[in-house]
Amino acid sequence: MTGNTNYISLYKQLLFFFNRPKNITLYVVTLKNSNIGYILIHMKERKIFITEAIEKNHRQSGIGTFLLDFIKNEYQDFEIFADILHNNIASSKLHEKNGFIKIASNENFSTFRYAKNPETLN
Ligand SMILES: CC(C)(COP(=O)(O)OP(=O)(O)OC[C@H]1O[C@@H](n2cnc3c(N)ncnc32)[C@H](O)[C@@H]1OP(=O)(O)O)[C@@H](O)C(=O)NCCC(=O)NCCS
Repeated sequence: MTGNTNYISLYKQLLFFFNRPKNITLYVVTLKNSNIGYILIHMKERKIFITEAIEKNHRQSGIGTFLLDFIKNEYQDFEIFADILHNNIASSKLHEKNGFIKIASNENFSTFRYAKNPETLN
C-alpha cells in the first residue's frame, strides 16, 4: 500500500516479526495477488481502535463494509472505536451506515463507536 519496494532481508523480517507490538493486528485484503485494502486494529484491554483504507480503484464496491462486518463478527466481545477526521465524509458515511455512532468530537476529528443496539450503545 505504501509503494515501498525496498528489499528487506529475511533476518530483518524475522526481527520485526518477533519484536512487533503484540496489541496491533493488521488484516489485508488481497485480490489476484495484489493488496487492495487493510484494516488495522489497535487493542487496549477490551477496546479496539480501528482504521482502514481501500486502494483507490477498488473503493465504493463494498470492501470497506466487508472489513467492518468481519471486525464486528471477529471482535464481538470488544468495544469498537474509530476516530475520523471531520472532512472525511466517505469514512464517516461508511461507519455510520455500518452501525457506528458519533460519541465525541474535538476540533479535528470525531470518535465513533459501534453499537449493536443504538438505543443503549451496547
Ligand atoms: C473510507 C473508505 C475505507 C471506504 O471504503 P469503501 O470500500 O469505498 O466503502 P464501501 O464501498 O463499503 O461503502 C460503504 C458506504 O460508505 C459510504 N461511502 C463510501 N465512499 C464514499 C464516498 N466517496 N462519498 C460518500 N460516501 C461514501 C456510502 O454510504 C457507501 O454505501 P453505498 O455504496 O450504499 O452508497 C475508503 O474511501 C478509503 O480507503 N478512504 C481513504 C482512507 C480512509 O479515509 N480511511 C478511513 C480512515 S478513518
